[in-house]
This record gives sequence, structure tokens and C-alpha cells, in this order.
Amino acid sequence: MAEENSKQDSTGSKTPETEKQNAATPAKKKRNGWMVGGIVVAVIVVVAIAFGVWHNQPSFCNSVCHTPMDPYVQTYDSDNPAMMSSLHRTEANMSCLDCHEARLGQQISEVGTWMDDATPVDANGMLVNHDTSVQASPENCLKSGCHDWNEVVDSTWGFEGNDEEFNPHSSHQNGSIQCSDCHKSHTNSVLYCAKCHDLNVPEGWEVPTDE
Ligand code: HEC
Ligand code: HEC
Ligand code: HEC
Repeated sequence: MAEENSKQDSTGSKTPETEKQNAATPAKKKRNGWMVGGIVVAVIVVVAIAFGVWHNQPSFCNSVCHTPMDPYVQTYDSDNPAMMSSLHRTEANMSCLDCHEARLGQQISEVGTWMDDATPVDANGMLVNHDTSVQASPENCLKSGCHDWNEVVDSTWGFEGNDEEFNPHSSHQNGSIQCSDCHKSHTNSVLYCAKCHDLNVPEGWEVPTDE
């Protein structure tokens, strides 16, 4: 049957049957099909296991998505104590997903969303649309297992050799500023109070410019 069909189609008209001419005979095709199928499944299993391991590592984020991930991985690796992502790597061995559980985790499982080079970024290659679910906020930083607020406040009176009455965590600004107004994860942290007060700033931290 198959041979008869191909003879009939050798007139050159483009039908589904002519396409079959270029393929293997049905029996051979079926055998090859099983083999190829088996190899594909084996490869997928190996890749999936490797992916699972790799996927939890910081290097995963920018190997898949150079734009926009490179600057985030670089700042994480920078050993700069003024950047909270780096500080949490050196002090607490934390990884990207320890802070970014909610969104990055989901993005990574839907890889394609980040692979778009058209994603808007600023001059430093950092994303313009901020993910507000991952902020240095009291909810994220003071959850159990992380920081205890009373201890933070107690330990920062007269911080960095400033006068004892200055505490970045207890002042007339309480309630009007967020942790993220000072603590930045992928850029240098900023001492908000230094906008008005002449204070010593921790290593690598910046004084706010006009806002
Ligand atoms: C200590 C927690 C922490 C770690 C660790 C961390 N980040 Fe972040 N990341 C943040 C916070 C907080 C922000 C919000 C902006 C800021 O504070 O700089 C952020 C912002 C981002 C953004 C921008 C999101 C947006 O929509 O604007 C990306 C992308 C990102 N991080 C990727 C990474 C990658 C990749 C790693 C690991 C190499 C990493 N982060 C490690 C806390 C962290
Ligand atoms: C006005 C700026 C500012 C704000 C807002 C701020 N911090 Fe800080 N934080 C600092 C500075 C400056 C230091 C470093 C003090 C030092 O040199 O030890 C610090 C240190 C810390 C430390 C380390 C404390 C230690 O024992 O060494 C933790 C933890 C911390 N902050 C958590 C938070 C959390 C959580 C929030 C929000 C609820 C917050 N901070 C808001 C400026 C700020
Ligand atoms: C927008 C400007 C501004 C910012 C930002 C600001 N302050 Fe003040 N602060 C003032 C003014 C004004 C006074 C009262 C005038 C004075 O006594 O010099 C004051 C007074 C104080 C005092 C009483 C002692 C003194 O010098 O008078 C302390 C302590 C203080 N601020 C701490 C802080 C801390 C900590 C931060 C950051 C969390 C901060 N301030 C942020 C403007 C600011």
C-alpha cells in the first residue's frame, strides 16, 4: 500500500504522501521511534536531576538569564558588606531563593519569562519594575528564625561610634521609614538619617543624595 502511494505521488504534487517518501519505511520507523524515545526519556531524566541541583544555586539565575540577572549575581558575590545580598551570603550562607522564595522560585520554574532581553533595565542593568514581594520589610526580616527586633534595637545605640542618642532603629523617624530605605540588597545601603544629621556611616554605606 505504502509503495503504491509513493509511486502515484511521484508526479511531484505536494501531498502528505510525498512527504512520507522521505521517511523510513513504517516498520523501521517504528523501531527507530522506540529507540529514540528511550534515549530522549533517559536524557530528560538526567537533565531534570541535574537541573534540580543546579537550579537551587546562585549561578543558575544568570546562566539562564544574563539579562537581567548578571548584576544581581555579581552583587551577591561581591563581598561588599553594604549590600545585604552579599552580607547574607558571607554571614549566613544564604542563597537567592532564601530571600526570593515567592517570586524567583516561580519564575525559575517557568524559565521563559526571564529569558526576554526586552525586559526593561536601568543603566546598571537592574530591573526597573521592582518586585515588591521581596523587600527589606519588617515582615520579611523579622520573621522567626531571622532577626529579633528588640535585639536589633538594643545593639545599635551609638552605632559606628556615633553619639549614644543616635539609633537608626529607634528615633523620631520610626513609623515613617522602611528597613529598605536604608538596607539595600543589590546596591549599597544608605544611611537615611545622614540626610539631615552628620553621622559616621558603616563601611561601604552611602549618604543619601537629594530625593
Ligand atoms: C538577603 C536577601 C537576598 C538575597 C540573598 C538575594 N536577594 Fe535579590 N533582592 C533582595 C531584595 C530585598 C530586593 C529588593 C531590592 C533591594 O533591596 O535591593 C532584591 C531584588 C532582586 C531583584 C530585582 C527584582 C525586581 O523585580 O526588581 C532580582 C532580579 C534579584 N534580587 C535577584 C537575586 C539573585 C539572582 C540572587 C542570588 C544571586 C539574589 N537576588 C539574592 C534580597 C535578596
Ligand atoms: C535609618 C536606617 C536604617 C533603617 C530604616 C533600618 N536599619 Fe537596620 N541598620 C542600620 C545601620 C546603619 C546598621 C549598622 C549598625 C552597625 O554599624 O552596627 C543596621 C544594622 C542592622 C542589623 C544588624 C544589627 C547588629 O546586631 O549588628 C539588623 C539585623 C538590622 N539592621 C535590621 C533592620 C530591620 C529588620 C529594619 C526594619 C524593620 C531595619 N534594620 C531598619 C540602619 C537602618
Ligand atoms: C529630614 C531631616 C531628618 C532626618 C532624615 C532625620 N532627622 Fe533626626 N532630627 C532632625 C531635626 C530637625 C531634629 C531636631 C533639631 C535638633 O535638635 O537639631 C532631629 C533630632 C534628632 C535627635 C535628637 C538629638 C539632636 O541631635 O537634636 C536624634 C537622636 C535624631 N534626630 C536621630 C535621628 C535618626 C536616628 C535618624 C534616622 C533614622 C534621623 N534622626 C533622621 C531631622 C532629621
